[in-house]
Amino acid sequence: MKKPWFADAVVYQIYPMSFQDSNHDGIGDLNGIKQRLDYVDQLGANFIWLNPIYKSPNADNGYDISDYCAIQPAYGTLADFDSLLAAANRLNIGIMMDLVVNHTSEQHPWFLASKKNRNNPYADYYIWRDPVDGHAPNDWLGVFQGSAWTYVPERDQYYLHSFASAQPDLNWQNPAVRAEVRSIMKFWLDRGVRGFRMDAIDFPAKPKWSNEGQTFTNVGDAMPDLKRLNRYLQEINQQVLANYDRILTVGEMSTADPATAAEFSNLDGSELNMVFEFEHVDLAANKDKRIGKWSSDSVSVKDLKRVLSKWQVGLDGKGWNSLYWNNHDQPRAVSRFATDDPKWRVKAAKMLGTTLHLLQGTPYVYEGEEIGMTNAHLKTLQQYEDLDSLNAYHELVDEKHLVSGPQMLEYLAARSRDNARTPMQWNSESNAGFTDAQPWYALNPNYDQINVAESLSDPTSVFHYYQQLIQLRHANEVVKYGNYLELDPDDGECFAYVRQLESRRLLVISNFTENQIERDYGQNQGTRLIGNYDDDLGVSIRPYECKVYELNN
Ligand code: GLC
Ligand code: CA
Repeated sequence: MKKPWFADAVVYQIYPMSFQDSNHDGIGDLNGIKQRLDYVDQLGANFIWLNPIYKSPNADNGYDISDYCAIQPAYGTLADFDSLLAAANRLNIGIMMDLVVNHTSEQHPWFLASKKNRNNPYADYYIWRDPVDGHAPNDWLGVFQGSAWTYVPERDQYYLHSFASAQPDLNWQNPAVRAEVRSIMKFWLDRGVRGFRMDAIDFPAKPKWSNEGQTFTNVGDAMPDLKRLNRYLQEINQQVLANYDRILTVGEMSTADPATAAEFSNLDGSELNMVFEFEHVDLAANKDKRIGKWSSDSVSVKDLKRVLSKWQVGLDGKGWNSLYWNNHDQPRAVSRFATDDPKWRVKAAKMLGTTLHLLQGTPYVYEGEEIGMTNAHLKTLQQYEDLDSLNAYHELVDEKHLVSGPQMLEYLAARSRDNARTPMQWNSESNAGFTDAQPWYALNPNYDQINVAESLSDPTSVFHYYQQLIQLRHANEVVKYGNYLELDPDDGECFAYVRQLESRRLLVISNFTENQIERDYGQNQGTRLIGNYDDDLGVSIRPYECKVYELNN
């Protein structure tokens, strides 16, 4: 087994807008994050991934950037950033930036120039095509609903936007664009950042297309041209990353399968360190193509096991997995994959954490996951903020009449990204200690029960359990490097697997149900390392119980 330098990395993801307000305007900011660094350190994470903090009109909460080398004024200044970075480095926490370079904001000066006419220095920075019979060049649909093309009269052309129309796609086939990306990366690396999470990194590698015969329903189905993507990533490595030491890279790749991901995250470090796959979070989405990712159907434990196991086995020895249950684009893990019923929430959150953190790969903890934060359980459309959720309601209910309003509200309650974006719950005081002003987005009312202060004071909390899981990863070679063997793939209640490194073996058992079940994997001969019940009943496994053993034979 090759031992990558980042094998003990644990990444804590911060959504800056919703983490900690420090200057009484209701919006989280960089100084707020700095005040909370000790908390991240106490948890044990050694990297922080910051969602975008650049200047942005915020059509898509910072994923529409108008200046890559400036901080969003509401978050602070470059000086604040440098001070955050210095404080993080003192704690040995590396800061990873979100590199959003498939597209810019429509307000970026490059795009403002590009759309004026067909012959200006930025004319080819974006993807422009002539109309075909007075229509868009092909029938691609954007990820955020509607056509992926928008017409601009000044050029009498359409521009491509894989996401919202406010996010025009950059033209990576133009070498000048790739040079701009490299200089943005250098700008941040020279300040001292230690990694990049590369947003939608499969999208820049556009396929060749003709105007005929385009039948894709979603622009993502057409991406990427794999060879081209290999070349782009290698170029970034050779020309930028090779000049710095130990820069952690993870590419968001909704289109990857294990074979391609193994290639992109190959362990010689020539492309990416790892990839965010989407298969386990898109399981329900494949059930009904009409509503796709909005499907609120629960996912069977068997399917979840099948997909996670496939990725574990598929990348073993070839590439490296990113491990995550949730992030700023997904509902809260405990509500989605287990239960947020107060009776079981704490046990369930620990069980999910264990299942994930004992796998091979790099765990990502999304802010609030470590205290078992839950979905917001929103009831009305007015409570939503995210453009994807609002667009989807508009399209599926108002325009296409595919689902009824109440049905769509159910889908949104289960699936909307807004579930993850309610402010961080620090304590039980007003606005959960997130702000003393009007918060930019309403808090989850359960903050009086679920908050950091409570978690820190309770030795049996989800927080302290996550702390132990992270310590285990830092200390235990089998957790870091061991290979993976799934046990009983057909068991629809219990997720059990073995991690093995030479003669050492760990056994991980997680009960995903509310029932007590009996399973014998030889745990009675092992030593329990961690578990979410005080005692151990051996082959009996209680509701949402999880336990990890070192096997002695
Ligand atoms: C990624 C981001 C998401 C954003 C989209 C467009 O999927 O995670 O939040 O909306 O890219 O940039
Ligand atoms: Ca603020």
